[in-house]
Amino acid sequence: MSNVKFMSGENVPLEMHKVRMVQKVNLLPVEERLKCIEEAGFNTFLLHNRDIFMDMLTDSGVNAMSQEQYAAMMQADDSYAGSETFYRLEAVLKDIFGMEYFLPAHQGRACENIISQSLVNPGQVVVMNYHFTTSKAHITVNGGSVEEIIRDEGFKISSNDPFKGDIDIDKLKESIARNGKENIAFVRVEAGTNLIGGQPVSMENLREVSKICRDEGILLVYDGSLLGDNLYFIKVRDDEYRDVDIKAITREIASLTDVFYFSARKLGSARGGGILTSNRELYMKMRELITLYEGFLTYGGMSVREMEALAVGLEETMDFDVISQTPIMVEALCNELLASGVPVVTPPGGLGCHVDAMQFCSHVPQAQYPAGALAAALFIVSGVRCMERGTLSEQRNDDGTERYADMELARIAFPRRVFTLSQVKYTADRLAWLYKNREIIGGLEFVDEPKMLRFFFGRLKAIGDWPERLAAKFREDFGDSL
Ligand code: F0G
Repeated sequence: MSNVKFMSGENVPLEMHKVRMVQKVNLLPVEERLKCIEEAGFNTFLLHNRDIFMDMLTDSGVNAMSQEQYAAMMQADDSYAGSETFYRLEAVLKDIFGMEYFLPAHQGRACENIISQSLVNPGQVVVMNYHFTTSKAHITVNGGSVEEIIRDEGFKISSNDPFKGDIDIDKLKESIARNGKENIAFVRVEAGTNLIGGQPVSMENLREVSKICRDEGILLVYDGSLLGDNLYFIKVRDDEYRDVDIKAITREIASLTDVFYFSARKLGSARGGGILTSNRELYMKMRELITLYEGFLTYGGMSVREMEALAVGLEETMDFDVISQTPIMVEALCNELLASGVPVVTPPGGLGCHVDAMQFCSHVPQAQYPAGALAAALFIVSGVRCMERGTLSEQRNDDGTERYADMELARIAFPRRVFTLSQVKYTADRLAWLYKNREIIGGLEFVDEPKMLRFFFGRLKAIGDWPERLAAKFREDFGDSL
């Protein structure tokens, strides 16, 4: 947010845009919300949007676009090969990131497929601050494994550390010594580290990691899907960058990496993805796979309209007012929740507010998916859809035993510039009520469990009748309120 102080001294997340197109949302009575989540197998991914009041599942592909983005979509140049739209997007990317080559792909995980197929050999390890579900899946499918070397602070729920996404430099050095650099496919740094609460990576840390990688001859791959949030935090939390232009910060980040990829469903608020590199050999290797899996080189599975929106969206990401809107809303929700005693990840990150289910549902064992239960419970009491980011989102070990997640989080994501402060306050109110009644929440168990990425389609059932009791208590306390 721009520098706007309120006379009251209150820290208000002021919207630096106005809403000119709206979508009506539907708030069902609690009894119907209960029925919906039962029918969805207690998996918020399987709910229907028409039954949801506030969709805070993700910030992916659901961000509000600007009038400039919509206008740009109208002048897209549709052609299979050599589209003018591609060259426009390529020029914008080159201007912002300063990297030589651009490979388009249909979304972030498609980039991960191309990168992993190109760089990961069976038996190799990919060392990273922290995994994302799809990034890990692509590495393991190609016979590699993942080693996480985030600083211990990253796992602390309550912290004042401004850059909890940083890599532990000692762990990085130890990993290289132990594995041998030839067995490390690449080092991966994820901006705005998703699964630990949208926590940023500092420039200082990236510089150090980059230097080590370059000295050792190991490739540094940067996942910039959440770059917008990370840029905001570098600007407001690092004194060295307070007066540095967003574009200059972006350029510096890109210059420290060998491969920069992103989901354009997040970065640039459009739909699609892309890989950037200045390494010609790598470019040539990945180029073949783009045409095999994504499409011709001048669209890579994206619609030209989305590419136009992306070009404008990326330019808008260089605007501090634009990238500040999510983090200040996340902070507002976190602060409201903290005031009610609800345990959330601090400092507030980008992407969303992360509620600690391990504390919230301390009576629900990890084997019964406390974060999944909390996500289902939140939907029952509010119609707000959030996402489980805990053990349910993990893959079982090869021997079939559970791999317990380091953190059990219910992620309340903020689609960029979509929800207003009153809606944020509603969410905080219902969560505060749920926290007071948390003892009612019970566990979940699988009824139908897919082997890969089970959280997407898996169906579960409640252990006991806690969902019914929760809905009844809501009715008792709220009377005829929705
Ligand atoms: N990397 C990060 C850090 C992500 O957060 C995502 C997606 C991807 C890669 C994959 O990109 O969805 O375009 O294929 N995150 C979404 C989320 C799905 O809800 O956090 P994609």
